[in-house]
Amino acid sequence: MGNDPMSVSMSSRHHDRAPGTCTLAVFSQKGGSGKSTLAIHLSVLAARGRKVLLVDADPQGTVSAWAETRQRPDPLVVRADPSSITEIVSHATTERFELVIVDCPPHAAAGTTALLRVADHIVIPVQPSMPDIAATRRTVALTTAAGKPHSFVINRAPARALEVQQAIDALTPAGPVAPVTIGDRRAFSRALTDGLAVSERAKDEDKAVLEILRYYLWLDSHLLEIERCNRAAA
Ligand SMILES: Nc1ncnc2c1ncn2[C@@H]1O[C@H](COP(=O)(O)OP(=O)(O)O)[C@@H](O)[C@H]1O
Ligand SMILES: [Mg+2]
Repeated sequence: MGNDPMSVSMSSRHHDRAPGTCTLAVFSQKGGSGKSTLAIHLSVLAARGRKVLLVDADPQGTVSAWAETRQRPDPLVVRADPSSITEIVSHATTERFELVIVDCPPHAAAGTTALLRVADHIVIPVQPSMPDIAATRRTVALTTAAGKPHSFVINRAPARALEVQQAIDALTPAGPVAPVTIGDRRAFSRALTDGLAVSERAKDEDKAVLEILRYYLWLDSHLLEIERCNRAAA
């Protein structure tokens, strides 16, 4: 582990943190944008340096199905009805979980607002296509109504840089876009089928591992900023 760049970098960040639970919601109104895939991959990376709870708040149960095939204890996965999310996050705080990641349902179901309200930050995955970009309007309206900061991440990006840049340009007025783009790579879905994440499969494409790691590190520094603001405001 000592030679592992991932664990070194994350454990040093870990020591920078004030005690407390940071909650991240992965949300978009668009089904298939990559919410569950990203929630799982981020949780697995985060669990290397922190105590992480992954909450499956989508009745479709993608995250729970993944957890059932998984042979490893971390991250801890729970299934939750949106109506119980406040209680779950408060329990996670008591149990000293450092990060809670909530995989949200795609629709503005009753209770979605409750999911967004517990979040310190909302991640909105967007595929770089016109219908997906157009659909972010309502997603952003909901995050704004919940009074929570959000950022976009381009997921399933094709190799063509032009489409990706157009998507970034279209999204930027509505909020920060992560500078790391997640490519359309079969490695992401293949890993999930085995109850793993790409970072846990030695055979998988380095590109997929690097992308998700770089995105995680960007998000991590973003969250540190938010925590700093929260502490300053407290
Ligand atoms: N970066 C990616 N590359 C390739 N396939 C992806 C990627 N992200 C998601 N997928 C696939 O797209 C489909 C929808 O992803 P999922 O995470 O279930 O979306 P959501 O939770 O938003 O409905 C799944 O089959 C998943 O394996
Ligand atoms: Mg899902």
